[in-house]
Amino acid sequence: MPNIAIADKEFSLFLPAEKIQQRIEVMADLLNNELKGHDLIFIGVLNGAFMFAADLLKRIQINAQVSFMKVASYRGTTSGLNVKRLIGLNEELKGKTVIILEDIVDTGKTIEDILFQIKGFRPSEIRIVTLLLKTDSYKSEIKIDYVGFEIPDRFVVGYGLDYNGYGRNLRNIYVMEGEKS
Ligand code: IMP
Ligand code: MG
Repeated sequence: MPNIAIADKEFSLFLPAEKIQQRIEVMADLLNNELKGHDLIFIGVLNGAFMFAADLLKRIQINAQVSFMKVASYRGTTSGLNVKRLIGLNEELKGKTVIILEDIVDTGKTIEDILFQIKGFRPSEIRIVTLLLKTDSYKSEIKIDYVGFEIPDRFVVGYGLDYNGYGRNLRNIYVMEGEKS
């Protein structure tokens, strides 16, 4: 089924589940090698990163804590509205290596806000992992340390990513039809 409909929009297959899993395996290998000896906490950004976090973390073989935080910044298909804090962090992050897990980085506004919040807890180091990066629309100076796939500025859905709340449960990632950047 290459095409699917969600609400009023058509989407076509963009990244099949197998390709996503292969890439996650490579990313996990890299993290397992580079983070040995760190006092680690992974922080998944809800809702979108729940699936990516689950699949990636199953492949992490070093000792680590896992937590989640929730922010909201999106209305429909337009990015960059208010970034809201919904669920904060209460873990002790001081002196730890924090690894932020994101589903997608678009303009970078959300990740800037998250970074600002996490820095306030005085961790020793913060690294950012995102499954998807919209390279052309990224406007921040912040370095994204690990990127799964660089994608064009098109609206995607599935594998945690939603269109008006729908599509998060899909195992593939789909791109909106008839939409140009
Ligand atoms: P940014 O603040 O512009 O980087 O936007 C990041 C947030 O916008 C992500 O955490 C997503 O929630 C949302 N977002 C950006 N692009 C897409 C997309 O193509 N599909 C679904 N959500 C998106
Ligand atoms: Mg997100």
